Amino acid sequence: MGAIEDYAALVEAVEFQRERLQGPLRPDIWGGEIAKRFRADPKREMDDNFQVLASFVRPDDVFVDVGGGAGRLSLPMALRCRHAINVDPSSGMGQEFQESMAEAGIANASFVLSDWQDMDGAQGGTQGDVVHAANVTYYVRDIDRFAAKLEASASRRVIITLWSVPSPMLNAVLFKMVYGEEQAVVPGHAQLLPALWEMGILPDVRFLPQVTTFDGVPVPPNYPQSKDDAVEMASAGIWLATHHRDRGEAVVRENFQELFEECPEGFVPQWLPDAREVLITWEPGNPSQHGDNHG
Ligand SMILES: C[S@@+](CC[C@H](N)C(=O)[O-])C[C@H]1O[C@@H](n2cnc3c(N)ncnc32)[C@H](O)[C@@H]1O
Repeated sequence: MGAIEDYAALVEAVEFQRERLQGPLRPDIWGGEIAKRFRADPKREMDDNFQVLASFVRPDDVFVDVGGGAGRLSLPMALRCRHAINVDPSSGMGQEFQESMAEAGIANASFVLSDWQDMDGAQGGTQGDVVHAANVTYYVRDIDRFAAKLEASASRRVIITLWSVPSPMLNAVLFKMVYGEEQAVVPGHAQLLPALWEMGILPDVRFLPQVTTFDGVPVPPNYPQSKDDAVEMASAGIWLATHHRDRGEAVVRENFQELFEECPEGFVPQWLPDAREVLITWEPGNPSQHGDNHG
């Protein structure tokens, strides 16, 4: 099997495991409470990783954020460029995006409710100067089609960012405690890069300086101050089906001593791996970044 097929097989295995353990997906899995967690003040002080991303974007640019969610990155970017467009299939994320935009008084951003793979047109999806996707590739089965569309839509640059431990796996320890088996491997940069190479794309890859923050602000995260808040924080991620919330919370309580260390700053989670953000970027049409397709 080639790298693109391997990638698809991993995404299918993740979906298969989730359906077996959690049942069919509810509509708009990214909506509701989850979408609220992805929202962040567009006028906050931005961290070093965002500054690296912003260094690729010029004031006159249209910035397309594919799967931009609640605008965590595209709304601050709108304050630094001509226009930002978020293309995302989640109406719940769209609602948070629009509210955040209105609250911050941002007028040069827009939301397109669509799956990137469903966007037609000879040239691909929504057109922009810089086309970006953060923390989306983990979920994309046909990664070659997705990446080709990113490239066809960008006049100057494509940027994909993701975590060195894919964010859906940050809670793999909790997943195993609740579901009694290892979480299926979610594809990250180690699987994405060979798939891109197979398409003849030779990107620049950078590991960004800032370690994990929960909300993009360069201060230590606020650790939960009470045991109840710690349990709630552990159970809040997308790894736990909403209808398994009680079961998840019970398991976290049972294993509390192992999962949290009580420190002066609060209850510090012990299961989170040390992850770095990975930035993968290339220029559409640049011959030095488009090698022979050896797939
Ligand atoms: C983990 S969230 C990341 C949101 C945002 N990029 C961020 O980093 O804050 C994943 C987002 O990808 C979106 N998504 C998943 N598959 C997608 C696809 N095929 N096309 C566009 N967006 C997609 C989801 O709706 C969700 O909003």
